Amino acid sequence: MLEAYCLRTEYRENPLGLDTKKPRLGWKLRSDKANVMQIAYRLQFSSNPHFTDVAWDSGRTETSQSQHVRHDGLELKSAERVYWRVKVWCSHGEESSYSSPSYFETGLLEASDWKARWIEPEKEVDPDAYKPAPYIRKEFSVKKGLVSARAYLTAKGLYSFYLNGVEGTDDLFTPGFTSYLHRLQYQAYDVTSLLKEGANALGIVLGDGWWRGATGGANLKNNFGYKVAFLGQLLLEYEDGSREIIGSDETFKASRGPLLKSDMKAGEIYDARIGMEGWNEPGYDDSAWEPVHVTEDGLDSLIATRSVPVREKERFTPSVLRTPNGETVLDFGQNIAGYVDMKVRGEAGTEIVLIHGEALDKHGNFTLSNLSEHGTLEDFQEVHYILAGKGEERYRPRFSIFGFRYVLVKNYPGDVTPENFTAVAVYSDLEETGDFTCSNPLLNKLVSNSRWSQKSNFMEVPTDCPTRERAGWTGDAQVFSRTAADFMNVYPFFEKWMSDLAVEQFQDGSVGSTVPTVLGYHNLEEWERLSKTSANPMMAFRKPGTASMLDGSSGWGDAAVIVPWTMYLCYGDKTIIENQFDSAKAWVDYMADNARNPNPRFQDTPAYRNRADGERDADYIWDTRFHFGEWLETDTEMKDLAALLTKTGGCFPDVSTAYFAYSARLLSEMARVIGKAEEAEKYQTLHKKIKRVYNTYFIQEDGTILDGRQAPNVRTLAFDLAEEEKKQAVADRLAQMVIEQEYRLNTGFLSTPFILHALADSGYEEIAYRLLEQESCPSWLYAVRMGATTIWESWRGIKPDGELAGSLNHYSYGAACDFLFAGAAGIRPEWDRPGFKHFVLKPIVGGTLTHASATYESLYGTIKSSWEKTGQGVAYRFEVPANTTATIMLPGEPEDLKKGLEEFPDVRYEDGRIAFTAGSGSYQFTI
Ligand code: BGC
Repeated sequence: MLEAYCLRTEYRENPLGLDTKKPRLGWKLRSDKANVMQIAYRLQFSSNPHFTDVAWDSGRTETSQSQHVRHDGLELKSAERVYWRVKVWCSHGEESSYSSPSYFETGLLEASDWKARWIEPEKEVDPDAYKPAPYIRKEFSVKKGLVSARAYLTAKGLYSFYLNGVEGTDDLFTPGFTSYLHRLQYQAYDVTSLLKEGANALGIVLGDGWWRGATGGANLKNNFGYKVAFLGQLLLEYEDGSREIIGSDETFKASRGPLLKSDMKAGEIYDARIGMEGWNEPGYDDSAWEPVHVTEDGLDSLIATRSVPVREKERFTPSVLRTPNGETVLDFGQNIAGYVDMKVRGEAGTEIVLIHGEALDKHGNFTLSNLSEHGTLEDFQEVHYILAGKGEERYRPRFSIFGFRYVLVKNYPGDVTPENFTAVAVYSDLEETGDFTCSNPLLNKLVSNSRWSQKSNFMEVPTDCPTRERAGWTGDAQVFSRTAADFMNVYPFFEKWMSDLAVEQFQDGSVGSTVPTVLGYHNLEEWERLSKTSANPMMAFRKPGTASMLDGSSGWGDAAVIVPWTMYLCYGDKTIIENQFDSAKAWVDYMADNARNPNPRFQDTPAYRNRADGERDADYIWDTRFHFGEWLETDTEMKDLAALLTKTGGCFPDVSTAYFAYSARLLSEMARVIGKAEEAEKYQTLHKKIKRVYNTYFIQEDGTILDGRQAPNVRTLAFDLAEEEKKQAVADRLAQMVIEQEYRLNTGFLSTPFILHALADSGYEEIAYRLLEQESCPSWLYAVRMGATTIWESWRGIKPDGELAGSLNHYSYGAACDFLFAGAAGIRPEWDRPGFKHFVLKPIVGGTLTHASATYESLYGTIKSSWEKTGQGVAYRFEVPANTTATIMLPGEPEDLKKGLEEFPDVRYEDGRIAFTAGSGSYQFTI
């Protein structure tokens, strides 16, 4: 039995509305045999699922490639559905039947396909006030013989839509978040089943969203514009082949409705007394509704939707607490990002208030104090619902999302009972790919917490936290990107976000610390208005198109290089490298320029005097501009961060130079992958120069870099920056520091993800495990023992005395989970054969663990790795999916090679491990 299954187009199952003319296709192989490789495929395209007319046939194509397959055999037109299927031949000479058909549909490929115009439902708006959400409607008639209907919709702001009173999609927070002035997504929906012959109605509600609602830690409003707007068209196709388009225009009408406020961060006010029953159905009397304003806004920035939609996911029922101060608080048991779906009966006009927070204070009372960093506690994460008083009412926010585990309930009529409240987790619906379990339940909880922090922060863009800032901080995203790829298929998510990073990159190559930026305005008018009147310190920072002081930080800007490289490594798709190469190069060149700029503070140091090949050594040390540094090391408290930056002036040459070297090297690799030999050479040379200087001025003979600090040693090992003769000393010194600090870490955001790998890969496996399993503060498991259900921003998020600090849902430290997948279970991608087409299985047995097991759903199928200590030794089990190979590396002695491993032709003893290549299949060894 040989089968091709799991057909995907552009990483999605049967996507609608693509705007690429050469979509990427991928499939997996299944076989009951071992050692299976695809040797050829044959693809067919058709306009129907029965393939009665084959529009294009690839013929038998000899290759093992089964992912990222592109064909230009088809000339694609707008709004066209294409079915495709594939058959494969494998190395055993078997031929599969054709797969079940899959399809994709193109969107509107040409600007001229858009007949719709941008419409604005509001006349004058007060930029400083919350605005009621506009409701828009349009009636139209459908003729007999409708065979298909599509809706292509987008908004400035957020939109939800209805056809004949029925909600048109379960996608949320559309059109998503991108750098709107450059790239604004539209979505395509199949709405055939929602329409009927005769009169029909389209209804739209617009929310403030990222367009004009509060964004970032400084709650910038009107960031992209002042008014919300809608653009959309319905495409109707009839039996006789005729087509009809209903596009937004001056015939649409608008009104305000019950949703009086719709801010993503601050929350919503919904007055259910303002009925509007039937407003989105035909026959509604809209004579009091206003005409909309048709604008001249262009369509140049429109792009089809990328990535995957945001959806409602897990649901939680609360326990109801009566806290010591007499308040009623719901505890959902899990910190999430989402909202509460509430049921209620009561008198008209009763105003229920729900306030969402992450924690109880040390007395057990509801608090938001841990999120007060930017003084956002008033008007923050609140829902106000005013009852209509007509039997059972139900409400869930439409355009707001909150980070919370607890909800303070005020003024709820009657008893607050669990069945009337459901918390709904909401995030980008990425396929879950990884799981890890072991004999230490605290580590299993750490895995769950880390995954939950990813779920809470992967909502359209990767955010720092779902509460205080909700910003696409580039540093946080780059440190977590590798672990994110263990848990979910994040390729399409990062491909989209990286394009936004590139369009917002500054002229000099500097990269924003938040993408899309919330450290300044996109809307020039608003910047000008506020710069005249406001004392907001953000004003000093950034005019649209210019970098703020906080942009361009090393470790943050390096997302431009590290994220595309990591995605390539995990998925093997060169597209992200092709797309991002210029941006990555501009960032590295920016670092090179800034490294060459002298910093007078260091001018008397040897690096400024010493020269090699006519250049100052200091030219390869990045010691200028502002940086965040290692950020939030274990001995830095949240409250001391600002003071630390003032003291250091944000100057951390060891951190900046290390990133400079690392990114130069990755850029050189990227150039190699896409055949740019000259640039590969150029940045390899640059890397070598930085590495030499870094070794000369930063690494002492005994491996010390900064006395007592683990972070620089970790970074040096992780980035492979130490010259051969210094490597062991750097590792030894790191191990020594960990022991001196009683098996505790003192790293921060940037190097925590690597510390366990750095120790284990330099021969300190047991120290890595002791650090990982440490339960006292600071450690990963301290938070778990304190009842954490997500990863905290600070190592002391909840102190032993119950004092709180910082957000409790920042994924950065959770990046350590990659050690569980790639270290403990040993599932590792390879630089030279990326995307798990070939991979390494190199489990590390250690700590208190008696067993460990991981699964990873790669693009080729399920990889499994587990081990268990038994009376006979360690029993290892592996699964290698069809069309891949793995290098298995087991701990053991040379004589273990005889234990049934002779069947592997290349079995050998290497670096203290037994190594051999295995094809697809299931394996079990006891050593
Ligand atoms: C955010 C971080 C971010 C940082 C910059 C914080 O306020 O929450 O996660 O990376 O600022 O250092």
